[in-house]
Amino acid sequence: MKNSLTIQSYRGPYKASFENDLRFLDALKEKPGIWAIDRNVFNVYRQHFDSIGSDSIVLIDAKEEEKTVDSAMRLCRELVTKSCKRNTDFVSVGGGITQDITGFVASALYRGLNWTYVPTTLLAQADSCIGSKTSLNLDSYKNLVGTFYPPKRIFISYEFTKTLNPKEIFSGFGEIVKLHLMQAKNLGDFSALAHRLKNDDPSNLLYDSLLIKKEYIEEDEFDEGRRKLLNYGHCFGHALESASEFTIPHGLAVVAGMIFASAVSLKRQLIDGEVFDFMVKQILSPSFHGELLNLQNKFFDTDNLWQAMRKDKKRTGEGVAIILPHRDSHLLLVQDLSREEFTWGLETLKKLLA
Ligand SMILES: NC(=O)c1ccc[n+]([C@@H]2O[C@H](COP(=O)([O-])OP(=O)(O)OC[C@H]3O[C@@H](n4cnc5c(N)ncnc54)[C@H](O)[C@@H]3O)[C@@H](O)[C@H]2O)c1
Repeated sequence: MKNSLTIQSYRGPYKASFENDLRFLDALKEKPGIWAIDRNVFNVYRQHFDSIGSDSIVLIDAKEEEKTVDSAMRLCRELVTKSCKRNTDFVSVGGGITQDITGFVASALYRGLNWTYVPTTLLAQADSCIGSKTSLNLDSYKNLVGTFYPPKRIFISYEFTKTLNPKEIFSGFGEIVKLHLMQAKNLGDFSALAHRLKNDDPSNLLYDSLLIKKEYIEEDEFDEGRRKLLNYGHCFGHALESASEFTIPHGLAVVAGMIFASAVSLKRQLIDGEVFDFMVKQILSPSFHGELLNLQNKFFDTDNLWQAMRKDKKRTGEGVAIILPHRDSHLLLVQDLSREEFTWGLETLKKLLA
């Protein structure tokens, strides 16, 4: 694995360092600061955090329902009570939920804290840790409230992923698959990717995922153009994630979203049947791991999912937005998904996952 990656941002460049073990935590602990740590991570890696006094630690419950403005304000109050000042170093440790809550607080408290982030899930390491987005849910609207505020430093250690359950590992892998698919343009690329996903070292895939994302976020940090394509699989994925009450984790919902989008593209004749078959049968379906998910019919309720897609924040008009694979432009954001196409995509997805 390479040593580091530097990302250009409106707040200046920031560095993601790749660490072979957890010794980097010792250096971080030497500086006074306040830590916000995922409660489960704290319990599993307690010996690494024991030397931080309880006055300097806040524990975060990494539950999707905690990603709210109320939780963020609660955390602000706790930090102020623990004497967090404008110049206090703020270190957060956890997966994407911890990142979203603590990143929002880091951007808002004193109009910006000096924030270091240690991602502990594969998803956060391979995808969310870079790109500046902090996101909170508003009622049933996913990630509707947020800011752009990258950490000053990121430390990535693959060591953390050893204690993740398989569902979380495959969820991270889902975002890795998405990022690599965004680069594949033809059957030859899809075939090379299928081989790589089966055989390459996950730490190489992780590094390359961040490299792919880096290109998009440096060109369009504020999500005004090309970066929107990183939401491939997310329009339907977010709807399914909510409909399953978050029992389908984010990255796996995104995989389902990419299958759905590919089915719609096939119906619109934007991709060939051969490409669809290879992409869906060799890459996407095997990445879904439905056997781990206790899937229920109610998760796939047509009206419910359609209504949820109508709430997607990428919508700019009356139509429903979706990012579709396309043989010429590769990926295409459209705003006119019809109810008929939606139903067809959903039925195709259900058949493929059955
Ligand atoms: N801000 C962004 O750019 C961005 C991008 C993608 C996803 N997200 C958000 O990320 C969230 C999903 O995050 P996630 O998938 O990283 O996981 P998570 O934060 O939901 O954590 C998943 C579970 O793993 C546990 N955990 C975390 N690290 C662990 C470790 N090393 N060992 C054992 N258990 C551990 C957590 O306590 C939790 O129970 C979603 O809310 C999604 O919207 C944000």
